[in-house]
Amino acid sequence: MKAVILAGGEGTRLRPLTCNHPKAMVPIVNKPLLERTLDYLKEFGVGEAVMALRHFPDPIRQYFGDGAAFGIKMSYSLEATPLGTAGAVKNAEQHIDGECFVFNGDFITDLDLGEMLRFHRENGAVVTIGLVPVENPSTYGVVDLDSQGKVKAFIEKPDWDSVTSNLINAGIYIIEPKVLKLIPPGEHFTFERDVFPALISAGSPVYGFTSRAYWIDVGTPERYLQVHHDILGGKLRRYTTHEPLSEFVSVGEGSTVSPEARLTGPLALDKRCSVEGKAQIVGPVAVGEGCRIGDGSLIESSVVWRDARIGKRVVLKNCLIGENVTIEDDTWITGGAVVGDNCVIGSGNRLDRGIKVWTDKTIDSGTIWF
Ligand code: GDD
Ligand code: MG
Repeated sequence: MKAVILAGGEGTRLRPLTCNHPKAMVPIVNKPLLERTLDYLKEFGVGEAVMALRHFPDPIRQYFGDGAAFGIKMSYSLEATPLGTAGAVKNAEQHIDGECFVFNGDFITDLDLGEMLRFHRENGAVVTIGLVPVENPSTYGVVDLDSQGKVKAFIEKPDWDSVTSNLINAGIYIIEPKVLKLIPPGEHFTFERDVFPALISAGSPVYGFTSRAYWIDVGTPERYLQVHHDILGGKLRRYTTHEPLSEFVSVGEGSTVSPEARLTGPLALDKRCSVEGKAQIVGPVAVGEGCRIGDGSLIESSVVWRDARIGKRVVLKNCLIGENVTIEDDTWITGGAVVGDNCVIGSGNRLDRGIKVWTDKTIDSGTIWF
């Protein structure tokens, strides 16, 4: 069975982290999101992934190529203009030869696709939508079911006063090829606002497969940090190559940790890092390849991408740090702050309260006291 993965969105809510990277390539515990999605799909025997791309396709194609190195066949379908979720699948029609999975490309889950496929076939559905319960449904596609699991209504991002269910579209579909006939070629068309409402009002068999599995859309900084806490904290029990141990400490090849440094899991330190002097890392923390962490610094509950140069007595707590960032001595970055790629944060700054520093910026010493 094949899967079409929608990865052409701009990832605006995750900026500045997605200024230089497609959302599908942001590292989730030091491994690109899409690579984790492929690992998951392979668990269910999916042999081919068709990537529907538009914005920023090259880093994805260069990394995965034909997929041979990742144990899955990869093909690519490119859009000249954004075609929307359904238009993008229509654009990939030449690669689709039967019932297939369609995935939004921006979530982490351990939902059982095998069970979902059985449910789809038993019901003779034309579309089955994977559903999960959430606390705040209004920022998602909200779904109402009848007692047999047939979808009665699908409302994309409803106002609060029209929310009638806590079950939301997880962005996982099984579609029969005849659904493609409903999608006009070369036009902007979405499953959420066009295809599903039309099928439902025609009484077609659209079913909802409800799951209590782990699921998170990683499209905002808060949820991007949350997924790290969850994976490192062992919340994803199935279909993950990560060891679910709360004291889990993983130190990559070629990394050095000073004997005086303290590492408290769960944490993953990638290759070629150096943790110097009395630096401390208190998990959940992920640190990318080639980072240097200076004497007396503390990193806690944060995600640091590759090649960071972190000086002495720096504090990073509940923050996200992009690629190739320099943080000079005595700076504190806390409270959900996000620093984009290639920034230089001079010494003695205090970045807090969700402040976002755009890519390539230099902040002089002692200028920000948030
Ligand atoms: N190729 C392509 N072309 N991909 C696209 C396009 C497009 O024009 N537009 C969006 N995508 C991709 C995005 O890259 C993302 O992986 C996925 O489609 C969903 O787009 P988002 O922009 O992330 O949508 P959302 O999160 O606001 O809402 C969607 O996901 C929710 C679950 O996370 C909807 O499907 C909701 O109904 C759903 O609940
Ligand atoms: Mg999304």
